[in-house]
Amino acid sequence: MKIDLLQMVEYGGCSAKISPKQLEEILKYLPLPKDPNILVDIDTHDDAGVYKVNDDLALVLTTDFFPPVCSDPYEFGQIAAANSISDVYAMGGDPVLALNIMMFPAAKLPMDVYAEILKGGFDKATEAGVRIIGGHTIDDFPPKYGLAVVGYIHPEKLITNAGVRAGDSLILTKPIGTGVILAGHRLKMVTDKVLNEALSLMKLLNKSGAAVMKKHDITGATDITGFGLAGHALKMAKASRVSLNINLKDVPLIGNSYQLIDDGCIPGASFRNLDYAEKDIDFTADLDYNLKMIAFDAQTSGGLLFSAPPQKVHRILEDLHNAGLTNSKVIGSASMQKEKLIYLKN
Ligand code: CO
Ligand code: CO
Ligand code: CO
Repeated sequence: MKIDLLQMVEYGGCSAKISPKQLEEILKYLPLPKDPNILVDIDTHDDAGVYKVNDDLALVLTTDFFPPVCSDPYEFGQIAAANSISDVYAMGGDPVLALNIMMFPAAKLPMDVYAEILKGGFDKATEAGVRIIGGHTIDDFPPKYGLAVVGYIHPEKLITNAGVRAGDSLILTKPIGTGVILAGHRLKMVTDKVLNEALSLMKLLNKSGAAVMKKHDITGATDITGFGLAGHALKMAKASRVSLNINLKDVPLIGNSYQLIDDGCIPGASFRNLDYAEKDIDFTADLDYNLKMIAFDAQTSGGLLFSAPPQKVHRILEDLHNAGLTNSKVIGSASMQKEKLIYLKN
C-alpha cells in the first residue's frame, strides 16, 4: 500500500506553527538567561541561538520539526532536514551536527515509512555536511519530523536579524508561494510540474546562498519560513531598527500561486501571519490584494532574505545566479526607521 502522508494532516510544514501573536504573548513572561557568552537569544527573534565558546568559535543552535508537507515519506524527510539546517545558514554558520526529532504513530503506519523519513533526513544532512549522531522518537499521530542542529561560526562573523543598515538593498534567493501551492495541490488546482517545482525548492539547501552571503561579508539576513516574507522581514526591521520597503511585483513567485490566490485559495496561516504583522505595516492604497496575501504565505524551507550595500548588489546577484539560484532578485530596500516598519507596494 502506498502511503500518502499529506492525507493525515490539515496543516503541514511550517504552516503548522503556532501563531506568532500567541507565541509572543507567552514568551514575554519567560526570563531570558543572562550570560555574556550568549551572543544571540530570542530577544531579536533570530533564526538560531548563538553561544560563544572562545574568541574563535561560537555554536549556532536551532531546532525545527513539523507534520508532513508532501505525500512521499523520503521527500518529507529531505524537506524537514533542509528546513531545520537552514537556520544555521541564515546566521552565516557552518552546520556540523544534528539530532533527529521524530513523532511517529507506530501502530497506525508501517515502520518502513519511518525508515524512509529518516533516510530522507539523513541524505539531506549528508549533503549539507551534517552528521546526525542521535535522536528521539515519541509515538504520536500525525507524524512529525525535524532536526536539532549545531553549527560553528566565528563570533565576529555573525549574520543576524539586527545587521540590516539603512540604504541597503534587500535580496531574496528563492521564489515564494509554497503554502499556496500546497493548498492548491490539495484542491487539485496545481499541475504536477508546478508541485514538483515547489518540492524541489523546499528540498534545496540554503548552503550556496549562505556561501555567497559570507563571500560578500553580509551582516543582516534571515530565512523565509512559517511567518511568511512580510513576517520575517518585520522581525529584521525591528531588530535592525530600520524600515523595509518591499516591492511585491519584484518578488519571484512559484508557478500559478498568484492565480491560486485570485481563485480564493488562501491558507489559514496567511491570515494568522497578517493578523500578527499588520499593525506595523503600511499597505499602499493601490496594493494588489493577491500580492498582499502572498507576502504572508507561510513558506516551508524558503530562501534567504538578506541586505547588502547597493554597490555590491550586481556582483552578489551574479554569484547567486552562478550558484544556480537563478530566481534571486532585489525585492526592496532598507531606510531609516519611519512610522511603520514595513512598507508593502505593488
Ligand atoms: Co529561520
Ligand atoms: Co526555525
Ligand atoms: Co531521548
